[in-house]
Amino acid sequence: MTDRARVFYLTTPIYYVNDRPHLGHAYTTIAADTMARYHRLAGDDVWLLTGTDEHGDKIAQAAAKAGVTPQALADRNSAAFRETWNALGIANDDFIRTTEPRHTKVVQAILQTLWEAGEIYLGNYGGQYCFGCERFYTEKEIVDGKCPDHQTPLQWIEEENYFFKMSKYQAWLVETIERQPDLIRPERYRNEILGFLRDPLQDLSISRPKRRLNWGIPLPFDDKYVTYVWFDALINYVSALGGPGDPRFETYWPSAQHVIAKDIVKPHAIYWPCMLKAAGLPLYRHLNVHGYWTLGGRKISKSVGNLVEALALKDTYGNDAFRYFILREMVFGLDADFSEEALVGRLNADLANDLGNLVSRVTTLIVNFGGIRRGWQAGDVGELETRLERRSAQVIRDVAAALDEFAFQRALTAIWAFVGSVNGYVDTTQPWALAKDETQRTRLDVVLYALGESLRFLGIMLTPFLPDAATKIRVGLGQSGEPTLADAVWGRLAAGTRVQKVSGLFPRVDDKNKSDLEIGATGTSSRPPSGQSGPAALVTIAGPAAPATISDVGKLELRVAEVLTAEPVPKSKKLLKLTVSLGGEPRTLVAGIAEHYAPAELVGKKVVVVANLEPVKLMGIESNGMVLAASIEGKLAVLTVDRDLPPGATIT
Ligand code: MSP
Repeated sequence: MTDRARVFYLTTPIYYVNDRPHLGHAYTTIAADTMARYHRLAGDDVWLLTGTDEHGDKIAQAAAKAGVTPQALADRNSAAFRETWNALGIANDDFIRTTEPRHTKVVQAILQTLWEAGEIYLGNYGGQYCFGCERFYTEKEIVDGKCPDHQTPLQWIEEENYFFKMSKYQAWLVETIERQPDLIRPERYRNEILGFLRDPLQDLSISRPKRRLNWGIPLPFDDKYVTYVWFDALINYVSALGGPGDPRFETYWPSAQHVIAKDIVKPHAIYWPCMLKAAGLPLYRHLNVHGYWTLGGRKISKSVGNLVEALALKDTYGNDAFRYFILREMVFGLDADFSEEALVGRLNADLANDLGNLVSRVTTLIVNFGGIRRGWQAGDVGELETRLERRSAQVIRDVAAALDEFAFQRALTAIWAFVGSVNGYVDTTQPWALAKDETQRTRLDVVLYALGESLRFLGIMLTPFLPDAATKIRVGLGQSGEPTLADAVWGRLAAGTRVQKVSGLFPRVDDKNKSDLEIGATGTSSRPPSGQSGPAALVTIAGPAAPATISDVGKLELRVAEVLTAEPVPKSKKLLKLTVSLGGEPRTLVAGIAEHYAPAELVGKKVVVVANLEPVKLMGIESNGMVLAASIEGKLAVLTVDRDLPPGATIT
């Protein structure tokens, strides 16, 4: 770490151990992990903290119900969180549990300081209490006599308790929030808190009598009481750093930022700043608040019985696809509804189609056409390359600005716009056409360089969002070692870099609702289209009108073919001329798919062809085979294999 490294300390909420990790928890943790990875990429000194909140009524009650001790329940469920984050590839630097001595020690030290400073007093309190939320509700907040969050009846509780003099910080807090417009963000949550602070702030009850609850940290100055769960929990953010005076605390605390969802804004935006102020500690820099994930419009939680297990989603779709979907789909600050269909849609469109195809096309083009033979030489470069370079620099700025506000969606949109530009660059420059003309060798090398450089750039920029895919891209581009943002600068790809084909980065996922597509075929067909100019007709292989036997199917030699080049057939709207490899000599075939695929999209794809058809001439070009495709209602998709098999593999 250099002296000039900026420090970035980020925390997630510590999760209650009466629940198992679900999509909601996973979102917060993945969002925090993405930010941490981005800052590490930028060379910052990063500390990412997560953990579990293990004291309080909720845990005690859940343990009693399960017939185990609170500690046993906490151990089990804390481990479930830790293991889930491991499986999701979360790179946290620390994991705090509020039952650890390092935490209790700091909580008690802060309580003692506040007690000695006269910030805490013994008082009497009666109020409507929600056991689910572990807090009293004011008359204004109560809806139909019930807890607005849990919709369960509240209980009147009256008892002697210790109070923190929070009310005396009201004016200071309002002034602080007004002076620092980005302290609580997005703005809607800042406004919500300022609205709340228009009413007088009450002192905060910070203890529970042990006879009612003993699963908590004892007050150091009265052991008949334990600490109120929020007073205990919020302090994790400083106890995990060793507490005031610890070198780690001194390094990281001044740059602290929290990520939470909207459910716990009040403790973080009101109690916590007042507690810090009273303890003489500096305030955090930002409180970043996101909305809720809902399922069919309802909050995801154990109590509504629609828990979406984080691990199950990752197991089905893969880590990167899951990360991508949740970061891309939710506008940070607003609620988002989860559906598996939307996830599959994004996976197929953004990951398999846009990114995955680009990576496979570009690496195939580079490998097939001679590799990276030239470095970046200013004299070679045309307008198209300069534009790509400028766009990459813009992406670096856009991603930085977006992530500064936790706007993951905007950052990803900026990166995908670049993916689109590179796809467009392939279409425009047509390297397969340049390859046919010896006089264009330098131009081809320049184009291949720009393409390689674009992928190297993506391999760096995607690191925080899609860590596994980004590594595969970098390895394919011959890059080793830890990526850095400084290396994203255009022109660093060295001449002679060894590039390998990278295919199958994101296999498409079948959408179950659409899987009963008619199987059709395009290209040359067993019933050649009438007339030379007509498109290759879609031919149903096994339609109801023509029952086939196994031996009929056996007559077709179906093989995997890798598309080497693709180009439009002059004067035809529908036909593409493809050269494909079936392992041996390349073959030419003509396919009626020009209205559905840009030529460049096909290059590098492994498609399925009928290899033993008699050659036919279409628009004067001899076609030696047929590309299989599925189609319905004007939509068409060529068949591919969902594992990487060498060209020529037979389909049985
Ligand atoms: N233990 C407290 C937090 C103490 S922090 C000092 C707590 N725990 S919790 O297990 O209920 O976690 C709440 C957090 O989990 C939310 O703030 C959010 O980060 C995440 N989410 C839980 N459900 C969620 C959704 N349905 N949607 C988005 N995030 C949600 O509160």
